[in-house]
Amino acid sequence: MSAAATARPMAAAHGGEIDILRSFARRIDPSDAGAYNNLGVLYFRKGLTDEAIVAFSRALALDERMHVARRNLEIAYGESGLLERRLQELEERLRTNPADLEALVQSGIAEKTAGHLERAHSLFQRAIDLDQDSSVLHFLLAETLYNRGLHEEALRSVKQSIELNPDNPDALYLIGFILGDLGRAEEAADASRRAVQLNPTLVRAQANLSLEMYRHEVTPSQAHKTSAGAHITLGRAKLGRTAVAANMRGGKLLVTDSRTGSSYELPITDGTVRALDLRQIKTGEGDFGLMAYDPAYMNTASCRSAITYIDGDAGILQHRGYSIEQLCERSSYLEVAYLLINGALPTTSELDEWVRDITLHTFVHENIKAFMLGFRYDANPMGMLVASVGALSTFYPNANDIHDPEVRRIQIIRLLAKMPTLAAFAFRHNMGQPYVYPDNDLEYAGNFLSMMYKMTELSYKPDPRLERALDVLFILHADHEQNASTSAVRSVGSTQVDPYTAVAAGVAALYGPLHGGANEAALRMLQRIGTVENIPSFLEGVKAGEERLMGFGHRVYKNYDPRARIIRKHLDDVFEVRGMSPLLKVASELEKRALDDEYFTSRKLYPNVDFYSGLIYEALGLPVAMFPVMFAIGRTSGWIAQWLEMVEDPEQKIARPRQIYTGERDREYVPIEQRG
Ligand code: CMC
Repeated sequence: MSAAATARPMAAAHGGEIDILRSFARRIDPSDAGAYNNLGVLYFRKGLTDEAIVAFSRALALDERMHVARRNLEIAYGESGLLERRLQELEERLRTNPADLEALVQSGIAEKTAGHLERAHSLFQRAIDLDQDSSVLHFLLAETLYNRGLHEEALRSVKQSIELNPDNPDALYLIGFILGDLGRAEEAADASRRAVQLNPTLVRAQANLSLEMYRHEVTPSQAHKTSAGAHITLGRAKLGRTAVAANMRGGKLLVTDSRTGSSYELPITDGTVRALDLRQIKTGEGDFGLMAYDPAYMNTASCRSAITYIDGDAGILQHRGYSIEQLCERSSYLEVAYLLINGALPTTSELDEWVRDITLHTFVHENIKAFMLGFRYDANPMGMLVASVGALSTFYPNANDIHDPEVRRIQIIRLLAKMPTLAAFAFRHNMGQPYVYPDNDLEYAGNFLSMMYKMTELSYKPDPRLERALDVLFILHADHEQNASTSAVRSVGSTQVDPYTAVAAGVAALYGPLHGGANEAALRMLQRIGTVENIPSFLEGVKAGEERLMGFGHRVYKNYDPRARIIRKHLDDVFEVRGMSPLLKVASELEKRALDDEYFTSRKLYPNVDFYSGLIYEALGLPVAMFPVMFAIGRTSGWIAQWLEMVEDPEQKIARPRQIYTGERDREYVPIEQRG
């Protein structure tokens, strides 16, 4: 599990909570820097800033490269109001012993946090004079010099930091920035690329890499070589432009309120302004302050996320920086789940352990089975899934200890492992067939097929083509950033409820026809069209606004949905096993004609993931009610990754939107006998 938690204060701890924290602190492995960082975050969230500072300092002492702990320490100093006191203490320590290296470093960090860059510069320099071989000290100095705008000096320092430790991703990302600013794009790209390789979750380096690629690739010498290359380049260029925007630090939005004539400067960060910054815009003393009104969150970023990147214009989808095409081509679903949740692709031994852990948790408690047997014979399997995932929380009551990384880890394994079992039980229930227990000799998708279709045979042998197609479908549905169900998981999870209940909220959101049900609508549409001859009249109806071409168009993609292209490739394999569907011909011809039609091209309407997925599910013998269930199995990994990111994100609090009240006020109560 990621140890890269970051800090932000939340609420004062009461006695019981302090006891729990102390008992957690006692259980920490004294050599585990990540655990100390997490402990610091917990302390900090509970307002125990002194303890947090000690814990972050301890984490740094154990792992001086732990950038996140250093940042947390800075935040703890900065936001606690203790900075001044801390600076005085450190000054005192340095007066007594000017060669106190730790005090020099901590003073440097504290001065840097306070914005006293010259002082920080001199403190780091003094620390280096005492310990010339510390890569981290040279990095800290370089960062300070860079912040002072002294690029050449910063470059010299960061180079020294890298010389002392060539695998320091922080120093590599920094050198990427500096070289970029000095116009040395190619070297900047190399350094940033290396930083990303060493630490794939280093978002700044990723943004920097994109930026440099963009700068680099727009030069004439880097002309696009193939159309595929051009496509990727375009994506990178766009990524780069995002990075350019992200790099415009210090940008401000100047606003004048016509009601009062007052002007305000709202800081712009990563292309956004903080809605809370609007609050200062008031007409007078009693005014609550301006709010942002954004029904359906059409233009509101609710979180920072390093999980999934989508460029809708270019038709690009990447998870943790890897393209969906590569992941579908080369990874298994469980490997992608590991990537989403942990931030990096697993090594062979990590993957083996991950798969083994998940495989060993596929069984559900017999009472869950009994619970599911209680549903009506024709219960919708999605309704059964919502209920049974939620019910899991009652079997694992300690799951609500969401601040304990080990407790979180085990629930994550259970959720991934048990979801296909619950889904298959729901299917068998619907079919009136006995439930089939998991077969742990099979792989994830194969085991699911076995639980779905096994009859009297001793063991079910899944066809490898179907198994792979299903695994790819799970990958394609794994995550899609802040969609409705993921937002539901984050929103419910923000109450600090256990992950089973949060995921049940995600399944509930997916149940809706506008989200998980579009593939069903696409299949029904194809069935209704029936033959190729009926396509022209159907398209005329769509163009006349009588209905929609289901499986076409997307809120985000204004290009071919990359997922649709991948599904299309796997259709042939499935049909080879299950026999050709006459509807495939209709779908292919419909796609061709729509893409030739100005109505669709001018509106940028292309096939989305749902255009072909219904055909595959149908070929697998699934009733339409099971389609969203299939989606839910794959999306579980994304929900978990997003939930985990939210739990570890210090900026997140309980999700609680505001409203514009439109009702009446201060009405006189009318007794019932007097009401007309
Ligand atoms: N067929 C015909 N016209 C369409 C379609 C369509 N499928 N989608 C959009 N349009 C037209 C729409 O009529 C409008 O035309 P005009 O400008 O003349 O009024 C224009 O294109 C823009 O449409 P919009 O409704 O403003 O676009 P949106 O971003 O709000 O809607 C959408 C996105 C996915 C809801 C919509 O394209 C749609 O209803 N598609 C069909 C349903 C579907 O396939 N949904 C699955 C989406 S992928 C699932 C997932 O990623 O989770």
